[in-house]
Amino acid sequence: MPLAALTLLALCCNASDTRRLFRKRVASDAVPERAAPLDAEREWKVWNSTAPAVIPHPAASTRCRWTTLTPPPTPTLPPPTNGSICLRATDDLLCDAILRDHYWSECADLPALYALSASGAASGGLFLDVGANIGACSMHMLLSSEAPVVAFEPGANNLFYATSSFLRLGESLPEALGRLTLYPLAVGSSNSSSSLFSAIGNAGHSVIGQQPTLYAPRGHEKAQPIIVRTLDDVLWPRSERARPPQPIALMKLDVEGYECHALRGMKEILQKGVIHLIKIEVFDYGLRAQGCSGIELQQTLTAHGFTLVLAPADGNAPSPDALSRHAQHPPTVLHSAAPYNLYCFRSSASNQHQTDRWWANRDRPAGVRQWAMRDRRRRLSGVNGI
Ligand SMILES: *[C@@H]1O[C@H](CO)[C@@H](O)[C@H](O)[C@H]1NC(C)=O
Ligand SMILES: *[C@@H]1O[C@H](CO)[C@@H](O)[C@H](O)[C@H]1NC(C)=O
Ligand SMILES: *[C@@H]1O[C@H](CO)[C@@H](O)[C@H](O)[C@H]1NC(C)=O
Repeated sequence: MPLAALTLLALCCNASDTRRLFRKRVASDAVPERAAPLDAEREWKVWNSTAPAVIPHPAASTRCRWTTLTPPPTPTLPPPTNGSICLRATDDLLCDAILRDHYWSECADLPALYALSASGAASGGLFLDVGANIGACSMHMLLSSEAPVVAFEPGANNLFYATSSFLRLGESLPEALGRLTLYPLAVGSSNSSSSLFSAIGNAGHSVIGQQPTLYAPRGHEKAQPIIVRTLDDVLWPRSERARPPQPIALMKLDVEGYECHALRGMKEILQKGVIHLIKIEVFDYGLRAQGCSGIELQQTLTAHGFTLVLAPADGNAPSPDALSRHAQHPPTVLHSAAPYNLYCFRSSASNQHQTDRWWANRDRPAGVRQWAMRDRRRRLSGVNGI
């Protein structure tokens, strides 16, 4: 195994130290609880960018604790702009980290990954933030790139914090807010309604329809009713299937064990080959709570034509050079019981080139930068088979 790969593996073994602190086993004596179900056919609307999302029964502590968001610069890319982010006012793993570091480390590699992917066939493609939480990664990308950002977050509490940040971004950078589309939805395998259970003290660990206790030592917050839709229905509705789906340069998929359901509901888009690069969390315990497993998830990804590479755990995107020397991660091997991230590169497929050509001839969002990384991408060909 090349040295770069060993380095990445070594980094991976320290993965999620902070999260692990929150993940002590406690006896499972939780009484199953359900939120009053939403009507599965209930209408939902894309967020209209004019007012913060409303929490039906806000807690007294629900308010913004504002801090600056300063995404770290990415070598070879233009420097990011700084912004403000609305954090939970109570103890929270992710919010406390942002208060300390002024960004969330899990978002730090996304601008480089997007640039790598968008430098080629997926030029101008979307950044999808599936499981946006308080919007830390969507904000990070709006401030660090010119990517069109499409975010999915179903929980009313998270939506309040995320939309408060997005509105403030719009005051100073209307152009950035204009690149955002926010769906108040969970991405799943069918149309339904469900409940969202957030771990007390770590709302980033919000689980759909289940209350696994291992990583929620302080129990769960009150269940929130949510709407679940398939990505196929939302991004490529049947009425629009005369044209191919829009290219997705990068999808961040981190939904605390719901990943297999989410992938099942995006089969049509996956088969069209328009998703070029996925950063996904493999969280075996959470996946098992949802009837899947880490290995099953990895095998689903390779069956859809992706090559898997372990992501470094330090939040720094490896250079394309390091990636090209990095061994592929075998889908039949669970790297660790603790959560870890994979980069999934799409191998070339003829239908992909067709759809890319179709979109290349349409109008692009104004000002999408053509990152000068083509030579780097060529060197990556060992990894993603382009
Ligand atoms: C936007 O949505 C809010 C409620 O979420 C509503 O009060 C407001 O009237 C809407 N604004 C527009 C322009 O549709
Ligand atoms: C953003 O904030 C950081 C840290 O305070 C600072 O170093 C950087 O220059 C700021 N960037 C801009 C564009 O103002
Ligand atoms: C799911 O709901 C959408 C509307 O949100 C509808 O257009 C679509 O046909 C539904 N799909 C299924 C499989 O019921």
